[in-house]
Amino acid sequence: MFQWIIRCQNRSIWLQIGIAAAAHHSSSEAMSCGGSYACRLSPIILERNRVIIMEDVLNFISQNNVGYLATADGSQPRVRAFGFGFYEDGKFWFCTNNSKKVYAQLKAVPYAEIMFTKPDFSQYLRLSGHVAFDESIEAKRKVMDAMPAVAGLYQSPDNPVFEVFYLEKGVAVLESFPPLTPPKEVKF
Ligand SMILES: Cc1cc2nc3c(=O)[nH]c(=O)nc-3n(C[C@H](O)[C@H](O)[C@H](O)COP(=O)(O)O)c2cc1C
Repeated sequence: MFQWIIRCQNRSIWLQIGIAAAAHHSSSEAMSCGGSYACRLSPIILERNRVIIMEDVLNFISQNNVGYLATADGSQPRVRAFGFGFYEDGKFWFCTNNSKKVYAQLKAVPYAEIMFTKPDFSQYLRLSGHVAFDESIEAKRKVMDAMPAVAGLYQSPDNPVFEVFYLEKGVAVLESFPPLTPPKEVKF
């Protein structure tokens, strides 16, 4: 008879099923358990949570797309207003101008944090991570296409002062103030 049980063990959530078909489960997380088989559900649940939180982050940033970018100027932090371009495959894209201090700071110390808030400050998002520049025209065109105001400033993606970069290998934290709900955090 088909039976399924969800249980907690070793600080993980396991799905245990009692049919032979489960024996074909090739995951390294599958294990034999008497006459039935079990697979660990935690990675599935964590991945689902990650997708949901990332959707919240992307919705938030699409509605509140100007933030304050913090960089390191030696040991002195600096912040300035900064627009958001787009997100793709674990990368949050931005643009700047290579004559600015922010560019020199990001080149010297390639880590940054940017904060976006709702207009009433009731919720805010912080993205932090490693910064990498991309010199390709394709990348510059994509950022310019995502930021209509930037096209007006720089005219063409091959403008020699125009630079694009992305935040990667970081974390996004969405919080409320007052903190009535726990922060939502997702690695990217
Ligand atoms: C609403 C707004 C959005 C901005 N977006 C950007 C941006 O996406 N990239 C950029 O390089 N500068 C942007 N700026 C301009 C920078 O804030 C400004 O050039 C700042 O002086 C750069 O910092 P720095 O002096 O440390 O180089 C924006 C300014 C405003 C007011």
